[in-house]
Amino acid sequence: MQGVLDKSILLSVQELTVNFRAEAIVARALEGVSYEVRQGETVCLVGESGCGKTVSALAILGLIPQPPGEIPGGRILFMGQNILELSEEELQNLRGNHIAMVFQEPMTSLNPVFTVGEQIGEAITAHQKVEGDELRERCIRLLKDVGIPSPAERLKDYPHQLSGGQRQRVMIAMALACSPQLVIADEPTTALDVTIQKQILDLFKTLKSKKGMSLLYITHDLNVVANIADRVYVMYAGIITEQGKKRDIFQNPCHPYTRGLIASLPARSKRGEALHSIPGTVPDPAYKPRGCPFHPRCTYAVKKCSEEFPEMLDCGDGHLSRCPVVLSSERKTNTIRTHEGPHYSDL
Ligand SMILES: Nc1ncnc2c1ncn2[C@@H]1O[C@H](COP(=O)(O)OP(=O)(O)O)[C@@H](O)[C@H]1O
Ligand SMILES: [Mg+2]
Repeated sequence: MQGVLDKSILLSVQELTVNFRAEAIVARALEGVSYEVRQGETVCLVGESGCGKTVSALAILGLIPQPPGEIPGGRILFMGQNILELSEEELQNLRGNHIAMVFQEPMTSLNPVFTVGEQIGEAITAHQKVEGDELRERCIRLLKDVGIPSPAERLKDYPHQLSGGQRQRVMIAMALACSPQLVIADEPTTALDVTIQKQILDLFKTLKSKKGMSLLYITHDLNVVANIADRVYVMYAGIITEQGKKRDIFQNPCHPYTRGLIASLPARSKRGEALHSIPGTVPDPAYKPRGCPFHPRCTYAVKKCSEEFPEMLDCGDGHLSRCPVVLSSERKTNTIRTHEGPHYSDL
């Protein structure tokens, strides 16, 4: 099986389906979602709010509340082992120790009544027998690693004494406490202003290269994707619509949804022009349209888009897209064009 034989694949989410049930109504939050994260790689999951990004991250950590959630299908292989078959005890060992998560809002994830030192210490001692001076030294080193000045003094601080950016650095320090192989970051910079956002992204990049960990980075912001990703999965209404290397996704997007997201970005070259944005909204997962879930918002849609669920199609070199219309109309004549979107120095 794919994901078991290839040793470089750390995480392999395969055909994952997650529903939320409220009486007779079934919300199909994820429908057959597959993606992979390899050793040392940064993978971005990108899509508008409500597409299922957070649900897919929670599933990896065994944190989908059941009920109302249910996982009727799929596998989540981490180092070849199916997370969906682990006991609660095994999951607790996995969380923090092997896979750690950084959430969007550090104020709700940090406990206001404990000091920074107590909380980082707890992240270490949850999995390792360390105490006294050694524990203190480990906490100081972690704070230093995430770029917090005067780390020894900061140990005594409570979360409210730190700035938003510093709180997020503390959350990252806690995530790194047991040197996990995979860090999942769910919109970790969304609540921060742009300058601090850039600093946190730089921190993730430095930590990743220093520690050799893999990063699953979840965001709705394509600018962040352009900055940090190696590979990209675009999500829409609980499915992956396009995937590929960052350069392919930005320079040769093959799905209308990806093209819409890119066109919505403020292009430096077209400053002053009105922003193009995708009309309509992400469908409620309990009432998704038949066929391609994007078709009601799609300018490329033809009749069969409202009738047939689109298969993933190969655009070459690991680049896949779920739009037969773009591929058949532009491929046949070899006209899939280089997208004239914003110019990214990072690509
Ligand atoms: N505990 C829950 N109960 C019911 N519905 C949920 C629950 N968690 C998430 N959902 C639904 O699943 C869908 C995907 O949500 P989410 O993964 O949070 O989206 P994203 O992170 O991409 O913004 C949304 O429609 C959301 O309302
Ligand atoms: Mg989310």
